[in-house]
Amino acid sequence: SDEELQERIRSAKSRLGSKLLILGHFYQRDEIICHADYVGDSFQLAKNATQCPDADHIVFCGVHFMAETADILSTPEQTVTLPNLSAGCSMADMANIDQVEEAWSQLGEICGTKPDADGRQQIIPVTYMNSSAALKAFCGRNGGIVCTSSNAHAVLEWAFARGKRVLFFPDQHLGRNTARAMGIPLSEMPLWDPYKAQGGATDPSDYAKAKMILWKGFCSVHQRFTVEQIEKARAAFPGVKVIVHPECSMQVVDAADGTGSTAYIVKEIANAPAGSAIAVGTEINLVNRLAAQYPDKTVFCLDPVVCPCSTMYRIHPAYLAWALENIEQGNIVNRITVDDDTAREAKVALERMLQVHP
Ligand code: 13P
Ligand code: SF4
Repeated sequence: SDEELQERIRSAKSRLGSKLLILGHFYQRDEIICHADYVGDSFQLAKNATQCPDADHIVFCGVHFMAETADILSTPEQTVTLPNLSAGCSMADMANIDQVEEAWSQLGEICGTKPDADGRQQIIPVTYMNSSAALKAFCGRNGGIVCTSSNAHAVLEWAFARGKRVLFFPDQHLGRNTARAMGIPLSEMPLWDPYKAQGGATDPSDYAKAKMILWKGFCSVHQRFTVEQIEKARAAFPGVKVIVHPECSMQVVDAADGTGSTAYIVKEIANAPAGSAIAVGTEINLVNRLAAQYPDKTVFCLDPVVCPCSTMYRIHPAYLAWALENIEQGNIVNRITVDDDTAREAKVALERMLQVHP
């Protein structure tokens, strides 16, 4: 039963004691979150993975790229487990290393590869945290950097201080929304479609004129939010504050009152005055938890029907119980390991990010 599973998790966790660290992303279901030592956004959890060197085992209740990042940033002795290996991220899967290498070489031919007279690189690669370790390593070895939705603005400033253009992958929306907020016109942000010849541009020189080249990836959860949903929320709750994640489309971000990472959304709701109404454009598990936590405020999801993250949801308590009981017996199941060369280069890009935004 559900209660038996919860009891198995509690017992295994208490027997493992300080040897175990459970990290839980905000989008996890409540039956998982209640066991996490730290709950946070992808940026906070990446830092948490570096902060407990005494824990032998990190169990990451999130998705695959987050567990990879924890492995890269933790000590070599620590193990990282993803309770269900099928918990991936469809956005992260929209850019693979072969496609990125191919885009890099074609863009190098179009934009040139020699630094300009001020010593700035022609293109700086920037990968969203929601990407494989191989893409982070690509950024590490090519003068690039990682960003999360908490620090994309600061990271892009870092990149533009070092390069004339940015190749941003895999999420076009985070890239576009952040660059627009920095004053870059849409005409200088062409898309790169990895499935089309030369990225799909009718005129390849568009890339040479660009400031920001956007990979054609997206989050299937956040792309579903619409301006109509925002209009409906405003009609139903006059004075409602609408806050959305930057993985939403530009039109949705423009129609909202605020945009930011999951950590920003949590803070905004905590700080909203009692009696206020807040409509949220992000994953439903987080929104429902916040609604329950603040019964004195009206907190609701812009679209309660279609927006759970199905892969985050794959971390069922049965997998967590199974993983912990195995770890207790010295059997590390579903271990996530990044090979040494990839980890070393990916760490360079992650550490650049942590320096920009500690
Ligand atoms: P955060 O970086 O805000 O945690 O978002 C991660 C994510 O997967 C959002 O879809
Ligand atoms: Fe990936 Fe979107 Fe799920 Fe985040 S919400 S893990 S970006 S699919």
